[in-house]
Amino acid sequence: MTNTFLTPQCLPLFVVVLLGALPGTAVPQDATIQSELEALRKQVEELSNLAVRTQSHIMVDVEYHFSNLWFAGRNEQWELASFYLRETDSHLRWTVRVRPVRSIRGGGSVDLQPFQQSIEQSGFVQLESAIEQEDVDEFEAAYRRTLTQCHACHQATGFAYLEHHIPEMPLSPLMLQPE
Ligand code: HEC
Repeated sequence: MTNTFLTPQCLPLFVVVLLGALPGTAVPQDATIQSELEALRKQVEELSNLAVRTQSHIMVDVEYHFSNLWFAGRNEQWELASFYLRETDSHLRWTVRVRPVRSIRGGGSVDLQPFQQSIEQSGFVQLESAIEQEDVDEFEAAYRRTLTQCHACHQATGFAYLEHHIPEMPLSPLMLQPE
């Protein structure tokens, strides 16, 4: 018969019981808890500031993945293309989580999610299907349409000058061959 009390799962409980039984074990004081809470609060604040500051960094990742995607599709490296599409998609979702609403210069604000959802549900779906069918022509057409959707969000958020064109060279010389 196995001794269930001594299973690894029980170990943390065992340690807690043991510590509680030791004479003189310090019970955390209110002041200690307060200062630990304060330290945690500061850390959370720093992390959220960091997150807000990085929306443009995440967009640079989107640019990296999305421009590599063009070359992966044209080179018919379909698995790689599928990878870059997934990365583009997940980074775009991440950028919206980090900063869902942008205020516009001159007043007002824009909700980013509808733009992200629209690109995910049309541009990315069309790209995915072209990749699955290994169809270069359809891939190129879907890519151009998706670029227009990228721009729609930039326009709405006051970044109309962030207008894309078909990339001339891959950003990843390691993964892709130039055309
Ligand atoms: C949901 C809205 C939205 C969508 C969709 C979107 N972007 Fe952006 N993008 C932004 C915002 C907002 C910024 C400005 C971020 C900042 O500077 O704080 C930006 C900035 C950029 C930048 C400039 C980054 C820099 O700082 O140098 C690039 C490049 C970019 N986006 C590429 C793309 C590409 C490629 C797509 C399509 C696959 C795309 N974006 C789709 C919202 C979006």
